[in-house]
Amino acid sequence: MSTTTNTTEKSSKTIKRPQEIRNSFYGDFKMTHERPNVNDRRIINGEEGDVVQLSPIKHKFAWDAYKAGNANHWLPEEISMQKDIELWKSKDLTDNERRAIEMTMGFFTTADSIVANNLVLAIYKHITSPECRMYLLRQAFEEAVHTHSYQYIVESVGLDESKIFNMYREIESIYKKDMFAVSLTEGILNPEFTTSTPEGRQKFMENLIIFYVITEGIFFYSSFAMMLSFQRQNKMVGTAEQFQYIMRDESMHMNFGIDMINAIKDENPDLWTPEFQQKTIEMVRNGVELEIEYGEDVIPDGILGLNKDGIREYVQHIADRRVERLGLKAIYGSPNPYPWMSEAIDLGKEKNFFETRVTEYQVGGTLEW
Ligand SMILES: [Fe+2]
Ligand SMILES: [Fe+2]
Repeated sequence: MSTTTNTTEKSSKTIKRPQEIRNSFYGDFKMTHERPNVNDRRIINGEEGDVVQLSPIKHKFAWDAYKAGNANHWLPEEISMQKDIELWKSKDLTDNERRAIEMTMGFFTTADSIVANNLVLAIYKHITSPECRMYLLRQAFEEAVHTHSYQYIVESVGLDESKIFNMYREIESIYKKDMFAVSLTEGILNPEFTTSTPEGRQKFMENLIIFYVITEGIFFYSSFAMMLSFQRQNKMVGTAEQFQYIMRDESMHMNFGIDMINAIKDENPDLWTPEFQQKTIEMVRNGVELEIEYGEDVIPDGILGLNKDGIREYVQHIADRRVERLGLKAIYGSPNPYPWMSEAIDLGKEKNFFETRVTEYQVGGTLEW
């Protein structure tokens, strides 16, 4: 099968450049001066395939995710917080309900910021697929919208800002989740870090799994269940609506991340060893325990039809769905105690992406252009 233009035709169409600037590195990206072969395009270590020209798109799942993200665009200030302001001032919330809201805000006011920093400062430079970079830019903006949303909720409802914004330092169960994620950013941020070695590629995969599968795919979900339980009781409806939009975005982030991880696995078959699969399972187990500890801390006595046993089952249930998407066997076999979570995210506006696979990705075979 013909895969590219032949060498003679290619060189005749190439602007002649001084040898020293041909295929030069500008900072962290390689500028190709000769027509690339799109089949060289890879998610990592694919500089030869051109990192700046979007077309022709090889990793279609990323472009589809980018367009879906745009179709789901929203901004926090579009949502009225009036009823929440009135309810927070009233005596109609219990102490346990107030604690759950404060802890949820305490976790989220930094969580999305940690994800955004990892994305922009650690992941982005190592991704060599322009279409994946397009989605990362969209995702980075959405993380900013989410951080904006939490700020807007805390300010408009009139929560105790110094209490909320210091929780990630002062509440053990929040601190442990944050450290679990941040510890994986550090290795990638090292200027010496490279994906050119097998060890580097596995370290990079670990980062993607910690952030896309565990942070965005597990660490957000006991709070999502809790906020949507408020909504089901017609309480804190503005806050809950914000979380509904955030949850839709986050399920897109997770789906994109898992598609990207699976595509990297296909492009680098040496990475997904039995040992690395076992390591992935251990990381998910650790993440599940941290999320259960956090969930029990948020609702120590149970509220709004949620309790510790339900949270444990739910976190285990979603963790099983995540590892299955990675091609691994379910770990826990726990039933879903909150089937309404899947329905709650359907806003009747756009496609419901929650808990679904976005699209098939194309990595096999060759492309001609
Ligand atoms: Fe987010
Ligand atoms: Fe996210």
